[in-house]
Amino acid sequence: MIALFFKLLMLLTLASLAAAEDVSFTYNGFRSADISVDGNAQFTPNGILVLTNDTEQQIGHAFYPNPVIFKNSYSNSNAFSFSTTFVFAIRSPLATRGGHGLAFVIAPQRGLPGALNGRFLGLFNLANNGNTTNHVFAVELDTVWTEGFNDIDNNHVGIDINGLKSEDSASAAYYAKKNGGLRNLTLISGQPMQVWVDYDGTKKQINVTLAPINVDKPHAPLISLNYDLSSILNRTMYVGFSSATGSLPTSHYVLGWSFKMNGQAQELALSQLPKLPRIGGKKISKLLTIGVPVIFVSLVFLAILGAIYAIRKKKFAELLEDWELEYGPQRFKYKELYIATKGFREKELLGRGGFGKVYKGILPTSKTEIAVKRISHESRQGMREFVAEIVSIGRLRHRNLVPLLGYCRRKRELFLVYDYMPNGSLDKYLYDQPMATLNWSQRFKVIRGVASGLLYLHEEWEQVVVHRDVKASNVLLDREFNGRLGDFGLARLYDHGTDPQTTHIVGTVGYLAPEHTRFGRATTSTDVFSFGAFVLEVACGRRPIEIKGPLQDVVLVDWVFSCWERGNILEARDRKLGTEIISEQVELVLKLGLLCSHSEPSARPSMRQVVQYLESDIALPKLSLLGLSSSGLTFAPHEGFDDFAQSYPSSSVKGLSNVEPAVLSGGR
Ligand SMILES: *[C@@H]1O[C@H](CO)[C@@H](O)[C@H](O)[C@H]1NC(C)=O
Ligand SMILES: *[C@@H]1O[C@H](CO)[C@@H](O)[C@H](O)[C@H]1NC(C)=O
Ligand SMILES: *[C@@H]1O[C@H](CO)[C@@H](O)[C@H](O)[C@H]1NC(C)=O
Ligand SMILES: *[C@@H]1O[C@H](CO)[C@@H](O)[C@H](O)[C@H]1NC(C)=O
Ligand SMILES: *[C@@H]1O[C@H](CO)[C@@H](O)[C@H](O)[C@H]1NC(C)=O
Repeated sequence: MIALFFKLLMLLTLASLAAAEDVSFTYNGFRSADISVDGNAQFTPNGILVLTNDTEQQIGHAFYPNPVIFKNSYSNSNAFSFSTTFVFAIRSPLATRGGHGLAFVIAPQRGLPGALNGRFLGLFNLANNGNTTNHVFAVELDTVWTEGFNDIDNNHVGIDINGLKSEDSASAAYYAKKNGGLRNLTLISGQPMQVWVDYDGTKKQINVTLAPINVDKPHAPLISLNYDLSSILNRTMYVGFSSATGSLPTSHYVLGWSFKMNGQAQELALSQLPKLPRIGGKKISKLLTIGVPVIFVSLVFLAILGAIYAIRKKKFAELLEDWELEYGPQRFKYKELYIATKGFREKELLGRGGFGKVYKGILPTSKTEIAVKRISHESRQGMREFVAEIVSIGRLRHRNLVPLLGYCRRKRELFLVYDYMPNGSLDKYLYDQPMATLNWSQRFKVIRGVASGLLYLHEEWEQVVVHRDVKASNVLLDREFNGRLGDFGLARLYDHGTDPQTTHIVGTVGYLAPEHTRFGRATTSTDVFSFGAFVLEVACGRRPIEIKGPLQDVVLVDWVFSCWERGNILEARDRKLGTEIISEQVELVLKLGLLCSHSEPSARPSMRQVVQYLESDIALPKLSLLGLSSSGLTFAPHEGFDDFAQSYPSSSVKGLSNVEPAVLSGGR
């Protein structure tokens, strides 16, 4: 009786002992105190167990810190039933490749000493793989196909006993509810998945079940293996996880884990599991390490491009108003002129005139040689009329006019594009030493040419064009040394561009007719006066006014007149001409010069008459009959002209006058 009681007591004690030792735990997220880790394993602040953290060739182990009793103490006893479930996720930098995987493991020691990374999953090494003395049970989630271990593919679940050649394995998949069949899963999808491992110690059966996290435990396991773990599991074992990476920096995460000895593991509270690092976290880090610098460099590059574009745009900005559209063909692009003149280089400078600098250029497309006159112009007032005139002048075609090809307008600048005249301006041949001078026949040809050009402007074109600035420096010589008038109408710009109250007369001292300075009105007669000064200049090789000293200016026309009075007008001729002159022609030209310089506009010949005299079609009237006198010839140097000459010794003058001059005085 007593013996029976003791037996009963003993059984009860044993039962209670066994019950006390039935380990059970549940982690919905981890704290470092819960689990002991080694290798690469660590915890994130929000409670994820990170077995390997995006680092290559690593091992991470995580074990429940206390030993777990799997058997009774007496020998040859059966291993207990157990049940476990966990949620894991594997993230790889590549969508289809990762490595190597993770495993739920039951091992005699926490650390799995000597285990290797890579295909050994941190479980075994070359020497002990498959050795029955290992006493290791594992469920592997293998993402690399290793031929030597008889792996079925690179995405499988396997039951490993003492080694990596699985006792049984299956491609990652799960049985969907209601005969949904087997559905594949991708272990490295980065999505959390749940695994259940159940061992029935009586039936000696291991079931492994897999499912996506949002799916209830499938009714059927993925793997069901009949195997007695009693010989594998020692009495006390450690339970946990092992993971390893190979050459790809893969992250293996465990989000929650529940385990129970001799019973069903408690369900995980899925809603309480820590959230995985944001999807694309890796991409964000790539974005930070590669993307951001690339974006930054791109932005800088774009900014530079933008700046260059803006600068170029500004550099080549033009003024183009609606009214100019009809002048399209005459309009040049600033960029074109800029390229043609090599950026308006000083080296390309042909000369400086009263209105601006002239540059030589070659048009980029047509390779035409051009001369570009760059005129600074502050005011836009009157620009429209001026451009209209310029364009209309551009239609003038005469062999003794420099062809105006077109124009371009920018802020404060106007560009006139002319044909390039290879022999430059006439004044250089008259005055500049040691440049070659022109012989008489060349000079006579130039005079006749200019006369013919002026006649065309005054009478032969559809409108009357007053040149306003006839002088040697505005006569250019083409390849055959024909004189060609340039710069017509330019003076007009300055008239337009200024306040009508203070209109400047623009012309050149010595070429300005007296009535022009007095009344400010430019007419064909004032052009004839200038032409007179010009022919005297050419014949005498002297400027209309030479400033010898403060009190001693030589007015050319006065001097020629005095020579004529003395009966020897040829004395006035240019000495550089030498003896090869045709005296009659020289005399004709000198007399014509005097005639054109008459202070009375009506006494001057018209350009048609001038041409006729020069062609000897009609005879020059006798000067004596015209009542020429020294005082009647010029607008009297004694009458304030000296002031001009002295204030503007450069010979360019801007006298004040209230006038409204006209370049184009309507149709005839
Ligand atoms: C991974 O963890 C190790 C320490 O365990 C650390 O040195 C390393 O910087 C971590 N790497 C990444 C990518 O987080
Ligand atoms: C298994 O391991 C034991 C001891 O660690 C060793 O003596 C034995 O040779 C190993 N056997 C195999 C097949 O590797
Ligand atoms: C599922 O995976 C297996 C093995 O990898 C493959 O043979 C099968 O075609 C896959 N099925 C689907 C629907 O992707
Ligand atoms: C394994 O799965 C089969 C089929 O669903 C089931 O009959 C058996 O009881 C399961 N065994 C364990 C240990 O859960
Ligand atoms: C596990 O048990 C076996 C005998 O069942 C014994 O030989 C071995 O030393 C034990 N291993 C450990 C680590 O206790």
